[in-house]
Amino acid sequence: MAQVAGRPRILVTRAIFPEVAEHLSAHFDVESNVHDEDWSADALAQRLQGKSGALTFGTERISAALLAQCPLLKICANMTVGYNNFDLDAMAAAGVLATNAPDVLTETTADFAFALLMATARRVTESEHALRAGQWKRWTYTMFCGAEVHGSTLGIIGMGRIGQAIAKRGALGFGMKVVYHNRSRLDAATEAACQASYLSKQELLQTADHVVLVVPYSAAAHHTIGAAELAWMKPTATLINVARGGIVDDAALAEALRNRRIAAAGLDVYEGEPHLHPGLLTVPNVVLTPHIASATEGTRRAMAMLAVDNLIGYLVHGKAVTPLNAASLANRAVV
Ligand code: DGY
Repeated sequence: MAQVAGRPRILVTRAIFPEVAEHLSAHFDVESNVHDEDWSADALAQRLQGKSGALTFGTERISAALLAQCPLLKICANMTVGYNNFDLDAMAAAGVLATNAPDVLTETTADFAFALLMATARRVTESEHALRAGQWKRWTYTMFCGAEVHGSTLGIIGMGRIGQAIAKRGALGFGMKVVYHNRSRLDAATEAACQASYLSKQELLQTADHVVLVVPYSAAAHHTIGAAELAWMKPTATLINVARGGIVDDAALAEALRNRRIAAAGLDVYEGEPHLHPGLLTVPNVVLTPHIASATEGTRRAMAMLAVDNLIGYLVHGKAVTPLNAASLANRAVV
């Protein structure tokens, strides 16, 4: 696309809906990764030369080393709610605004957490695989008996917007008793709206029939669930991870599934994804999906458009919609 003098230049680091790129083009000179190539950190730094902003997808590491090579960069706008690809301190130090895409994916992701919970507890994919493999010779009364969902106890670790949406589905739709654990306890009105009671992590793991993980990734949250935590869970329990790879110790989980230390797991995210711990691929009692919790076309469009609004808001009007490090940037301007 021809450059228009004076317009900010933007990099879109992955392939995206054509109309999203078009919308950006109304305000910026846009370079897009239309072929969705895998760029190394060096290639990304190269592409960012001369760019004021980047529409990012949660997969690109925005580090101090990269920022040092991109002095003109002012904003990186993730189209994901997760932002563990951003070094927020380094971005603030370099004067680069970070934005993410909260809210627009909350309900869609909560729907998916429930889909995974249902598929895991009721052994949907495990039984389908057996059927497709020609193993269904006759019906028996114990065939693929799973765990009850309605009326059971749902434990949610991470009670932000998505956790709360999952709690409401569980309490109102399935008559579940909902318990949660969070860094800080919710106020009484929010607890009442979610019909959820606060427990320590250990109490929750010992109590819940189904544990759903929705904590954002941070160094402190690394391996929130490891061998010790799996040992606290009921042997009949299921574990669902729609949060981030690294929240669960996948090696310990594969072992716990193999030994039937817990009944089953449903996973949408993995340590080192798209590569999976080999142990997870060989146990039958796990439902595996490729990081698709927010994947409906409408939601993905909304996520991308929020990233676009952040780029336009900040670079054209001086104010982003969902900034992450605006306060640190402001402080930096003062000192
Ligand atoms: C998010 O938005 O963080 C989802 O995990 C999609 O990547």
